[in-house]
Amino acid sequence: MDPKEQMQFFHEMFDSSLPRLGPGDHASTRKAMDIWLSAMPRREGGPNPTKLRILDLGCGNGTQTIQLANHLDGTILAVDNHQPYLDELKRRAEAAGVSEKIRTYLRDMCDLGLEDGSFDLIWSEGAIFVMGFRKGLETCHGLLAAGGGLALSELVWLRPDPPAECRQYFADVYPVIVDNDTNLATIRDCGFEVLGHFSPPESAWLECCYAPMEDRLQSLEKMYALDPERMKMIESIHMEIENYRKYSSYYGYMFYIMQRR
Ligand SMILES: C[S@@+](CC[C@H](N)C(=O)[O-])C[C@H]1O[C@@H](n2cnc3c(N)ncnc32)[C@H](O)[C@@H]1O
Repeated sequence: MDPKEQMQFFHEMFDSSLPRLGPGDHASTRKAMDIWLSAMPRREGGPNPTKLRILDLGCGNGTQTIQLANHLDGTILAVDNHQPYLDELKRRAEAAGVSEKIRTYLRDMCDLGLEDGSFDLIWSEGAIFVMGFRKGLETCHGLLAAGGGLALSELVWLRPDPPAECRQYFADVYPVIVDNDTNLATIRDCGFEVLGHFSPPESAWLECCYAPMEDRLQSLEKMYALDPERMKMIESIHMEIENYRKYSSYYGYMFYIMQRR
């Protein structure tokens, strides 16, 4: 398979019909929103809570986008680089009656072409890694108006002593993973005040993300049983899930909610 075919098959595995495309759940999105909203009265000259300009980076098929639209006043620009995800997001937004609040934007988040200072709130669940944590923070800092908020989730070590097998797994797939304190220091260094942070529960991985993914992989295994390259890609997702089942106490997502200083 050439890189284009690999990407096509990646998107076939992570199909737009899945409930969501990365670990997360509605309760965590809601909790992050509440942390940001409850800090709002403290902000002088901050965003107008009834006309928020929101950017959802790496929105995928829009699970969190719809939730933001349901709970916040304003407009959302939902960015992703895969059109089928944006099509599914639009379908879901129409079904939820919030389509007039959301505009989709097919774009590489590393080259957004958006005006500095033009957003009050930036959301990015499980997607800031695409730019890199620090680069993502710097980009968002530039895009936010004074006092604007940023909420994102990022993979972290939850314990300092992961077993060698788990350490090796991340050395191969995500060598830039660090601990929470290191991320908090980077966030402050990039000009943000931390409003709160928390780790979404294991169910956000196992029930909300991996269970539907495993169903999807099962049907793909039947279709591609005689295709070793695609079966190898399927196996790599099984390994990711297996690694989480074994070592979920050692790593997870951290949701960071912050305000531009
Ligand atoms: C782990 S998924 C998270 C999706 C969604 N936020 C969620 O939690 O379900 C990462 C998303 O980032 C998108 N993405 C990956 N690289 C991108 C890029 N360079 N520019 C824009 N979006 C990108 C993917 O298409 C995918 O939808």
